[in-house]
Amino acid sequence: MPKMEASSSTSHDPALFHAPLLHHPRRRSSRPLKGFAVIIGSVVFLLSLVILIVNQSPEPLASNPSSVTEAGSYSMAAQPRGIAEGVSAKSNPSLFDKVGFNWTNAMFYWQRTAYHFQPQKNWMNDPDGPLYHKGWYHLFYQYNPDSAIWGNITWGHAVSKDLIHWFYLPLAMVPDQWYDINGCWTGSATLLPDGRIVMLYTGSTNDSVQVQNLAYPANLSDPLLLQWLKYPGNPVVVPPTGIEDEEFRDPTTAWLGPDGSWRIAVGTRFNTTIGTALVFQTTNFSDYELLDGVLHAVPGTGMWECVDFYPVAINGSVGLDTTALGPGIKHVLKASLDDTKVDHYAIGTYDMITDKWTPDNPEEDVGIGLKVDYGRYYASKTFFDQSKQRRILYGWVNETDSEADDLEKGWASIQVNYIHTYIHYHYEYYNIHNILFYTIVFCFRNLQTIPRSVLYDNKTGTHLLQWPVEEVESLRLNATVFKDVVVEAGSVVPLDIGTATQVL
Ligand SMILES: *[C@@H]1O[C@H](CO)[C@@H](O)[C@H](O)[C@H]1NC(C)=O
Ligand SMILES: *[C@@H]1O[C@H](CO)[C@@H](O)[C@H](O)[C@H]1NC(C)=O
Ligand SMILES: *[C@@H]1O[C@H](CO)[C@@H](O)[C@H](O)[C@H]1NC(C)=O
Ligand SMILES: *[C@@H]1O[C@H](CO)[C@@H](O)[C@H](O)[C@H]1NC(C)=O
Ligand SMILES: *[C@@H]1O[C@H](CO)[C@@H](O)[C@H](O)[C@H]1NC(C)=O
Ligand SMILES: *[C@@H]1O[C@H](CO)[C@@H](O)[C@H](O)[C@H]1NC(C)=O
Ligand SMILES: *[C@@H]1O[C@H](CO)[C@@H](O)[C@H](O)[C@H]1NC(C)=O
Ligand SMILES: *[C@@H]1O[C@H](CO)[C@@H](O)[C@H](O)[C@H]1NC(C)=O
Ligand SMILES: *[C@@H]1O[C@H](CO)[C@@H](O)[C@H](O)[C@H]1NC(C)=O
Ligand SMILES: *[C@@H]1O[C@H](CO)[C@@H](O)[C@H](O)[C@H]1NC(C)=O
Repeated sequence: MPKMEASSSTSHDPALFHAPLLHHPRRRSSRPLKGFAVIIGSVVFLLSLVILIVNQSPEPLASNPSSVTEAGSYSMAAQPRGIAEGVSAKSNPSLFDKVGFNWTNAMFYWQRTAYHFQPQKNWMNDPDGPLYHKGWYHLFYQYNPDSAIWGNITWGHAVSKDLIHWFYLPLAMVPDQWYDINGCWTGSATLLPDGRIVMLYTGSTNDSVQVQNLAYPANLSDPLLLQWLKYPGNPVVVPPTGIEDEEFRDPTTAWLGPDGSWRIAVGTRFNTTIGTALVFQTTNFSDYELLDGVLHAVPGTGMWECVDFYPVAINGSVGLDTTALGPGIKHVLKASLDDTKVDHYAIGTYDMITDKWTPDNPEEDVGIGLKVDYGRYYASKTFFDQSKQRRILYGWVNETDSEADDLEKGWASIQVNYIHTYIHYHYEYYNIHNILFYTIVFCFRNLQTIPRSVLYDNKTGTHLLQWPVEEVESLRLNATVFKDVVVEAGSVVPLDIGTATQVL
């Protein structure tokens, strides 16, 4: 989901989009102008100072909004856990009375997750091009090396032997060509039968046109795939006639058709509201032909981002290579709905001759039926792990920087030196009942889910089964066995498992 500033995905540039007092119109297309952002940001920042002075401890969003009386004035509510527990007091130093606590990065460090993948710092969004190569799981991800907000999107790169412990590697790709200068956005890897690796990704051009580009590892013998080369003939796919320049992105892993040529799907929309997956055909990954019709489209679902398309065996316990076709196989089509920020999937049948996919149950079609996850989860992507014959699912968890409701108001306090603080933190604004709320966002954002294996649920015949990869079990140090626990429908059964410092 690379195009954060479009439509409803505007929340990451607080200066431009979350300054309700300024009534800044939502921008659909153009890049935020840096100078403009700085000016607006400064204005918002000054406004926030006013609010900071008035309010030392904004109440949690989830508390009763009726206690809110007028803009910039709301009552104190839930008490934060406090400094003793390493949690921000969520009050900010007043310009008039006592000096705030001097939080440091080290004090917040424990709030990072222990086993989910997170970059060392700064902004991360979609997982990209996951693959397994010479003993290593490779994860690429949408990453801003410059700050904790979306922008300047590059491909971060990390590897793991077990999908749990990760090593950070140098950036795999940075926006340095006219066809991706506005960002190296989301893409997918394809492993060719001859061992080559093909990476297709969306570039936002110098004109903010979304094009699909080809890249490949410089040295296939390198297990770490450290160096990536962009194909000199890029872009390889440009928006077809009738497709909006800025609504055409996130190529899938390719699958091989029975005619011996490869196919990829790319998400788009027709007439603003019809979410669509287009199919392109190629023999050599440099020249593509748009196939007639579409893989699938669902009216009313809006732009489809991060389309994922893969086979599942209806009869068995292993994952399938993306190219697997034939009897006993169904196909999953997943789209990330830009309008709602929800990942939806449906199970259906792929006709390899017409390149059309049909849902088993049209009433549970993509975008109007099942979700991949019912929590805060987006831009998911699967890959086939050929070493363990399983299909693995990653998803991006868009962190709210909150711990239950009280943390919803921001868990980082700010430091005495405002200027210094502003460089290392940013404010996120949101408008509830026309009151400007803010939260201060610390210098790392977002995480990836624990990888899950995905299988067709042969009991229901209608769902996917997702289970954390077995490697997660290696983290278990101790077990507590509960016997004869009866869980009634709708009941809550507390289990004493002692203390846990972090279950993430
Ligand atoms: C925070 O640091 C500043 C400057 O280093 C110092 O003047 C101030 O007293 C400190 N505040 C607290 C609460 O320790
Ligand atoms: C993008 O990079 C430029 C140059 O390094 C920097 O000035 C700008 O603040 C960055 N933008 C974001 C959103 O990180
Ligand atoms: C974008 O780059 C291409 C290729 O260098 C160039 O032809 C085109 O004029 C550029 N467009 C803009 C708006 O700079
Ligand atoms: C390619 O990678 C292998 C394994 O790391 C290394 O031995 C070899 O020198 C590399 N080749 C080049 C041209 O860098
Ligand atoms: C989009 O709208 C135009 C004009 O109403 C119509 O001709 C066209 O068929 C629509 N496209 C789709 C895919 O529905
Ligand atoms: C790729 O295939 C197309 C058609 O099959 C051909 O026209 C084109 O020259 C090929 N490109 C390369 C770089 O081989
Ligand atoms: C049903 O799926 C499970 C894996 O989820 C597999 O172990 C089992 O063999 C399957 N049963 C049938 C009848 O296909
Ligand atoms: C389903 O599983 C059975 C036994 O495991 C096997 O004989 C059969 O071929 C499988 N059917 C398909 C369609 O894969
Ligand atoms: C990310 O978080 C923001 C603020 O909480 C929210 O508005 C936005 O919809 C989220 N985006 C995704 C992709 O979940
Ligand atoms: C395992 O759990 C038991 C019971 O909760 C506890 O007594 C024991 O100390 C734990 N062992 C470790 C290694 O944590």
